[in-house]
Amino acid sequence: MNQAKHIAIIMDGNGRWAELQGKKRVKGHEAGAKVVKEITTYCSNNPEIERLTLYAFSTENWKRPRLEVEFLMKLLNTYLKNELAVYLQNNVRFEPIGDIRAFSKTLRETISMVQEKTAHCDGLVQSLALNYGSQDELLRAINSLKDSEEDITAQMLSNELDCKHDVDLLIRTGGDHRLSNYLLWQSAYAELFFVDTLWPDFKAGDLEKIIVDFTGIERRFGGLK
Ligand code: IPE
Ligand code: IPE
Ligand code: MG
Repeated sequence: MNQAKHIAIIMDGNGRWAELQGKKRVKGHEAGAKVVKEITTYCSNNPEIERLTLYAFSTENWKRPRLEVEFLMKLLNTYLKNELAVYLQNNVRFEPIGDIRAFSKTLRETISMVQEKTAHCDGLVQSLALNYGSQDELLRAINSLKDSEEDITAQMLSNELDCKHDVDLLIRTGGDHRLSNYLLWQSAYAELFFVDTLWPDFKAGDLEKIIVDFTGIERRFGGLK
């Protein structure tokens, strides 16, 4: 039986969720942050799940209107400060991935603070992908190895990535069928699930159903049954 040890989610559909209710897009991001909490708590109570890697802000999301970007940065800062207690309560270790050098000093300090304060937690690892893009991650890894005397191996490259763990189950909410530069190397053999539900409407029960379906899939990794 398959085990969904590493689940990655492209949390998409916040803006549309808000617009459908005649609200501003940012209201969708606020609602989406609550779902992050619900899904993280659910995963932390499921010992089979070791890692949950959530796409929160992509290297391409800087193209959005300045006010939306600023709102997302503030929301992230408040979310992390408020959730610290929840991380600790649920024994969740927080590990950001992505190039956070682009963020403000305040936000970087909050990210480091939560990372340090949860470093001893040995339950679920929750990674938020922050200013993350797979191509950017691969380029940074390749550049760090470019002076290597030996030929680069897959293991060497993987060790330099922000996320060093293969994804078992990759979910995208919001109805689109694309990866939007997310965990391209790590998802080489991931099972992909695309659901129409907009992220703010996604519930722990929806994840549970996907995990049940995932469990029944025959994963061959290029081999035979
Ligand atoms: C995903 O929701 C959250 C982020 C990219 C930060 P969107 O903001 O992309 O919502 P839609 O896709 O426009 O509905
Ligand atoms: C992907 O969603 C990024 C995050 C969920 C953070 P986008 O809404 O940015 O993706 P595209 O632009 O539809 O591909
Ligand atoms: Mg979107």
